[in-house]
Amino acid sequence: MSSIPRTKIALIGAGQIGGVLAQLISERGLGDVVLVDIMGDVARGKALDIAEGALVTRSTINIEGTEDYSRIQGAHIVIVTAGLPRKPGMSRDDLIGVNAKIIVSAGTNIKKYAPDAVVIVVSNPMDTMTTLMQHVTQFPKHRVVGQGGVLDSSRFATFLSWELGVAVEDIHSMVFGGHGDTMVPLVDYATVQGVPAMVLLTQKYNGDKSKAQEVMDAIVKRTAGAGGEVVGLLKTGSAFYSPAVSALTMAESILRDQKRVLPCCVMCETEYNAGGHYTGVVAVLGHGGVESILEIPLSKKESELLKVSIDACKDNIQALKTLGFM
Ligand code: LAC
Repeated sequence: MSSIPRTKIALIGAGQIGGVLAQLISERGLGDVVLVDIMGDVARGKALDIAEGALVTRSTINIEGTEDYSRIQGAHIVIVTAGLPRKPGMSRDDLIGVNAKIIVSAGTNIKKYAPDAVVIVVSNPMDTMTTLMQHVTQFPKHRVVGQGGVLDSSRFATFLSWELGVAVEDIHSMVFGGHGDTMVPLVDYATVQGVPAMVLLTQKYNGDKSKAQEVMDAIVKRTAGAGGEVVGLLKTGSAFYSPAVSALTMAESILRDQKRVLPCCVMCETEYNAGGHYTGVVAVLGHGGVESILEIPLSKKESELLKVSIDACKDNIQALKTLGFM
């Protein structure tokens, strides 16, 4: 009797995000996990630790840690978190040289051992590393996608929920552009059950529109700096729980063919006049990876800000070319 293959998820990088991803995948039973890290013992240690909790979590997945890339053979999805995190005061872009080397190595091995997988890139600077991953693997663009927008939108929603005193699950929010200082939180699309957040903010401040705008501007600013805020507090690393659940949301939509509409970093050709560049917009994720990109109307200001964000990523790509990575 032929058997139905089990879902296999490869995690490249057994750092903080990779470890939380492995734990969540195990708890949710999403698929078997191969955790790969150049520090093989760290990967083995984390895999063993999670496996040893399986009686309590009732997990039936298989999990292994290794430094051997050949173990990712047959992976349906590969989530790449390998790379150095920021230190306080650094921008994500400061990581470009060191993390590019890691992405080239990861991409070469993914191409060799998991040529049919969908790849989700989390490593920073994420938009640039996603572009490099697609270049190295030469996978079709719909099978290489970056995680940034889900996290940034979740941060935006969290701050709105605190300000408005409403459940975060009732908020819809989207952040476009690069996962960096130039990201573009879309204020007009931020709603509470379809009611524009600005309407509720204005009500909260007794009709004072300029006060409502001031509060929204502060939330937008905090969203753009939210990763750095966590780095400043942790001092020895960057956020890991929220990036992990965000990447997992994307992976789950792909593996279960949920066709969720998620902000993420995708290759835009004509869409948003991006001219063949990876950037954060909203896309449908299903079995095929990025199944479509939704082109939603943006205000003139938002379109301009999106262009600034795409141009910032173009500068990084140029830097990669100068450094000989592309
Ligand atoms: C952040 C990092 C992981 O935004 O990019 O926290």
